Amino acid sequence: MVNFIPQEKIAEIQHASDIIQIISEYVNLKQSGRNFIGLCPFHSEKTPSFTVNPEKKLFKCFGCGEGGTVFNFVMKQEGMDFVEAVKSIASRVHIDLSHLETAKTSFSTAEKASLLKITNFAANFYHKILVNSEYGKIARDYLKQRKINDHSVQNFRLGYAPDSWDALIKICKERNISNDLLEKVGLIIPKKEGNGYYDRFRNRLMFPILDARRQVIGFGGRALDDSTPKYLNSPETVLFNKSNILYGIDIAKNAILKQHRSILMEGYTDVIMAHQHGIDWSVAVMGTAISKQHLRQLRQYCNQVILLLDSDTAGWKSSDKSLDIFVEEEFDVKIAQLPKGHDPCDFLVAEGVNKFLEYVNNAMDFFSFKVEIAASKWDMSTINGRASAINDVLSTAMKMPDVIKRNLLIKRVAEEMSIDEATLRTHLKKFNKQLPVSNRQQVVEHRLNASAKVERELLYLMLSCNDFIPRVLKEIGLEEFSNEDFLKITEEIIGLYSKNNVVKGEDVLHILEDVQLNKILMDIVTSEEFQNIANYTERLDACIHFFKKRNSRREIHQTKKKMLDVVKSGNNEEDIVVLLDAFHKKTLNSHVLKGKV
Ligand code: CTP
Ligand code: MN
Repeated sequence: MVNFIPQEKIAEIQHASDIIQIISEYVNLKQSGRNFIGLCPFHSEKTPSFTVNPEKKLFKCFGCGEGGTVFNFVMKQEGMDFVEAVKSIASRVHIDLSHLETAKTSFSTAEKASLLKITNFAANFYHKILVNSEYGKIARDYLKQRKINDHSVQNFRLGYAPDSWDALIKICKERNISNDLLEKVGLIIPKKEGNGYYDRFRNRLMFPILDARRQVIGFGGRALDDSTPKYLNSPETVLFNKSNILYGIDIAKNAILKQHRSILMEGYTDVIMAHQHGIDWSVAVMGTAISKQHLRQLRQYCNQVILLLDSDTAGWKSSDKSLDIFVEEEFDVKIAQLPKGHDPCDFLVAEGVNKFLEYVNNAMDFFSFKVEIAASKWDMSTINGRASAINDVLSTAMKMPDVIKRNLLIKRVAEEMSIDEATLRTHLKKFNKQLPVSNRQQVVEHRLNASAKVERELLYLMLSCNDFIPRVLKEIGLEEFSNEDFLKITEEIIGLYSKNNVVKGEDVLHILEDVQLNKILMDIVTSEEFQNIANYTERLDACIHFFKKRNSRREIHQTKKKMLDVVKSGNNEEDIVVLLDAFHKKTLNSHVLKGKV
C-alpha cells in the first residue's frame, strides 16, 4: 500500500482521537474497570467480549479475535482502506490532510462527507417545500388524510419533492453542488438522450433515511396517489444499502436501549405512526428480508424483538425459513399478528394505541408460531403430513447454536407436537449432519513450537525496546525465523525502524494489510504474558541464546551427517580430520551455551 500519510501525522491523528467516542458511535459501550466493553459488531454474540482500552487506544474482541487501533476499527466497520480510515478520523478531530496528494481512485472519506452534505441539503430542501411552500400543499393534504401530524413531520424530517423535472437540480446549481455528486447520491438521473439530468424524485412525499449516526444516507419517496411504484427509493449508492438499513433507528435507538426490546415492522408509515403514538422503540426493515446486519445493529440496543409484519405480507408465512435467522443469531423474538388486512400504520389509526399494544404484548413465542405455521402448512391428519411438520419445526430448532437451549427447544417441540421425546431424538440424529457450525469461538489460537514462542517474544521485545532491533538483526538474523507470520511482521517492524528510527506496535498494525497478521500482532501487543517482564535485556539475551543454541545443535547434526557420508563413501582422511575439528569446536561451543541456560 502506498501510505502517503507520514507516520508522525498518523500518530498525531491517533493521539487526538478518542477511541471510546468513535467506537461508541457504532457500539454501545459500558465502562468496566479500565476498559470499556460491548457487543462485538464483527460477529454475533450475546455477552460482550468486545473490549476497548482507552489508555492503549486499542480494541480487541476476545470472541472473534478482531482487534487493533481506532483506524483498524473504522476500516473494518466502514469497509475503508487504511488511508480512508485515517482521513475519516482526521476530519473528526479537525486535522487537515488536504495538502496531501491522494492517490485514491475510489471514493474517499472527504468525498463521502461531501455526499452526506448533499443528502442533508436535499432533505432540508424537500422539508421546507413540504412545510412552507404553496407547492407543498398537496402533500400536506395527503398527510392530513393519512393522520400524520406536524410533530411527525418534524421528527422524521418528512418532505415533498415538487412536481418538477429540475427543482432540485436548479437549487443545487445555485449552491454550486455539482450534478456529478447529485448523481452519485442517486438524487438525479442522466437523461437517456442528449446531455443533462432530471430529478429522480418528483411529486412524492419524501422520507429521508438516516443511519444510527443521524446522517441522511438515502430517501424513500411515496406517490401521493395510486400511481406506481408506490415507493421509489434511492438506488444503491456508496451511502445507501437497502438490505441493512433500519428505518427509524436514528430516533428509536435511545428508547430501544431503555426498553431492552424493539418492534420490528416493515414500512416507513408504520414506524412514523408508531412513534406518533408514543411507541418510539419501533424501527422497520424497508420491505426487505430481515438480514444478519439488521439484527447485529439491533443487538447493540436490545436482545428482544417483537416482529410485527404486515399480515398480508406475501411469503413471510410460506417462506418462514427466513425468520430462522433470529434463532441463528440467538435473538429472543416474538411474533405479533395484526388482524388480516391491516398493517401497523392502518391499525393504529383505526383502532388506537391501546388495542395495538394488546397485540404487541400478546405476541406469540417464536416456536409456538413455528408449530402453528407448520400445522397449517401440512395435513396433520396424515402420518406423512405430521412428519413433515415436525421436520419443519425441528430444522429451525436445530439452528440454535447454544446446545442447552437447543435441547430445551427439542423438548418443547415434542410437547407441542405431542410426540414422544425419545422417538423425536432418534429422528433427530438425521439432522446432526446439518448442525450449525458455530463460528463464534474462532479465537485465533496458535499452537506454537518452541522457536515460534521465542520469535513471538522477540517481536514484543523489539516493539517495546526499539534499540534491540539492530541486535536481533546482527545476532539472529531474519533467516532464522521459523514462523512465517512472525517473519512478515518482523520485516514490517524493521522496515519502519530503518525508515523512522522508531517503531511502535500500532505503527505496524497500521500498515499490516493482512487481517490475520493484524490479529496475530494484536495478540502479541495486548498479551498478558509479556506485561510483567521485569528486565527486557535479560529476556532478549535469553531469546538470542535460544537461537544460538538451536543453531549449534543444527550444525552439529549437519556435521555428524556429513562425517557419516564421508566415512561411508570411503573418502580421504583429510576430509574427516577437517570435519572432526569442526565438530569438536561446535560441541564445545554448545556446552558453553548449555552452561549458560
Ligand atoms: N417498499 C418499497 N418499494 C415499494 C413498496 C414497498 O421500498 N414499491 C418498502 C417501503 O420501505 C415500504 C415497505 O416496503 O415502507 C412496506 O411496504 P408497504 O406496506 O406497501 O408500504 P407502507 O409503508 O405500508 O406504506 P403505506 O402505509 O403508504 O401503504
Ligand atoms: Mn404496509
